[in-house]
Formats: sequence, structure tokens, C-alpha cells
Amino acid sequence: MKETIAVRKGDGSTSQVVVGDVLGTLPDYLPAGKRVIVITDANVYDLYAPVIDRYEKIVIGQGEGNKTHATLLEIYERLLEMEADRGCFILGFGGGIVTDIAGFVATTYMRGVRFGFVATTLLAQVDASIGGKNGVNVGGYKNMVGTFSQPGFVLCDPNVLRTLPKREFRAGLAEIVKAGLIADPALFALFENHFFEDFSEDGPLLLEAIARAIRVKKQIVEADEREAGERRKLNLGHTFAHAIEKSSRRFLHGEAVAIGTVTAARVSCKLGLLDAALAERIRTVIERMGFPVDAGVSDYRLAEALRLDKKKEGDEVALVLLRGVGDCVIRPVPFDQMETLIAEEE
Ligand code: GLY
Repeated sequence: MKETIAVRKGDGSTSQVVVGDVLGTLPDYLPAGKRVIVITDANVYDLYAPVIDRYEKIVIGQGEGNKTHATLLEIYERLLEMEADRGCFILGFGGGIVTDIAGFVATTYMRGVRFGFVATTLLAQVDASIGGKNGVNVGGYKNMVGTFSQPGFVLCDPNVLRTLPKREFRAGLAEIVKAGLIADPALFALFENHFFEDFSEDGPLLLEAIARAIRVKKQIVEADEREAGERRKLNLGHTFAHAIEKSSRRFLHGEAVAIGTVTAARVSCKLGLLDAALAERIRTVIERMGFPVDAGVSDYRLAEALRLDKKKEGDEVALVLLRGVGDCVIRPVPFDQMETLIAEEE
């Protein structure tokens, strides 16, 4: 079974996101007669060498530490050595770090070559690989240099998620919960009505959750491809998550997003936007999925990390806050209120 979700780009063309049993049909999505160069990481290459070895490849190091301009330079130099010209097609094959880097390389090498992705983590399938945000970190700050440029296609095959460590799989679910809270109450209800094991063991349920999350992202990206406003909603929980990730190395990104989402619900409640019972329901659902809900970092340190965020605007930060399930708003919140707002009541 497979479903194609077409994301309309600003120029009127579409990015095809294909969800389902699709990896075996990869050649059908590649441009006929073109030279295909795969960008992947060492871990993904070990798992998928028989597929990747059909093409030329560049294998980068694994992990966030490699999402740098040094890796970009290495790739550009390899492409030059390989005499790759503007006619080549770049295939990013991996998780969000690989697709962010591959997308940036494809958008900038020789002023742009065509590209597509095979997304191999849940987080990449439901968020990172979709919508055209590409880039690298600079000076410890995430995604400070990048482009908006959508791939020709993204293949999201849930079969590839079987090799994901349980913790990483769970972390990807946080982005799906987020999508439900932003715009799809029926998606959020799946998490109220099922346990973590249901998502890891029930193929059709997982497929439905992935496809619903992608449809939420499609809707938002089509409305605001370059993040002038509406797209900021996809950052629900992320402003807090980035502050948590800066203050503590204990958490995977998705885990920090889960804590950040609970924090956003609490702040929404304190600002009078969200009913206290609903904030508690959100916390319960996230906790029941096995996520941490407390960063173990003092409110002061978190508030400071938010204040030092490079993407802040003056004395305020624009937070994505909740008014209900499937109903969020963007509100500027002054830094001097932050510590009080994020604090849990005793
Ligand atoms: N990951 C958030 C976005 O694509 O806008």
C-alpha cells in the first residue's frame, strides 16, 4: 500500500512525498538517464549498501556533530573530484541530518542540481525531509545557514524504521504528536487511544499516523513555504526544545520536543489561552507514550538559554502556544516573564 502526497511549491511545481512500501521502487522515482549520486552516512550505508551501491556515493560521518560547513566543503570537493556536473541528481539517503545536508548541497552546488530523498528515520519521514528546509549548524547554533528548497520526491517507507533503535523511533513520534496538536485532533486522538507498542507493532496504525502528520505539514508548507508566519506553527515545542538541548545533552531532539510541548501547553495555560484540564491531558498523553516531561534543568537556566537564542527578536520571543487540540497561535512573550511562565506550580 502506498499514498502519494503532493506538496505544492511556490513555483507551482510539486514535491511528491510517497508513504508506504516504496523503497523497492526507488528507480521509478529517479530521472531516467541521469547520473545519480547518493549522499548518506556510515550507519545508513551499512544497512542499505545493496541499494546504495547501485549508484555513486558520498558517505559522511554520523550525528549532529557532522552537520557543519566542514562536511559541506568535503562534499563539494568530492563532487568536483567526481566531475559531477549540473546534470547529476543528488539522492539524500538517511535521517534528518543527511537530508538537511544533501538538500543544502544540491541547492548550492553549481547553483543547484535536482534532488530527492529516501528518509530513513521517523523524524525525517514526518518532518525533517519534508518542506524544503535545508542547512547546517554554525557555532553550536542549529540550522543557522540554510536554504528553502524542496526535493523532487521524498520516499517514506515505514519498513526501514524496523532497524531504528526503540528510543529513536519513540523520539520521532513526538513530531507526530506535535502535528496532531497543531492541526489534526483525530491524529492526536490516535495517541490518546493507543500505547507506544501499538505504533511500533501495528503497521496500518503507524502508516496512518505518518501520513496524517505529512498532510499537516503539507498544508502549512503550501500556505507559507518560506516561514513568513503560518509555518512557525511547526515549531510548537521547538523553542523550548532547543533551549533544553543547549542546557542538557541527555535528550534526543524528539524527547526535547516532547518536553517542550508539555512546557508550551503549561505556558499557554498560564497565559489564559488553554484550559488547565486540556494542558493536563496533553501532558498525560505524552508521558504515557514513554517520553520524559521534565528536562531536569532549572527554570532560570532554561529561561537564560531562551534569552541567548540567536533567533530571538529583541526582548521577546515568538512562542507557538495552544488554544486547544488542533488550534495554536503565535504570541510574543517577554523574556522577563519567561522564568515564571515555564515554572511548574508546586
Ligand atoms: N521543521 C519545521 C519546519 O519544517 O518548518
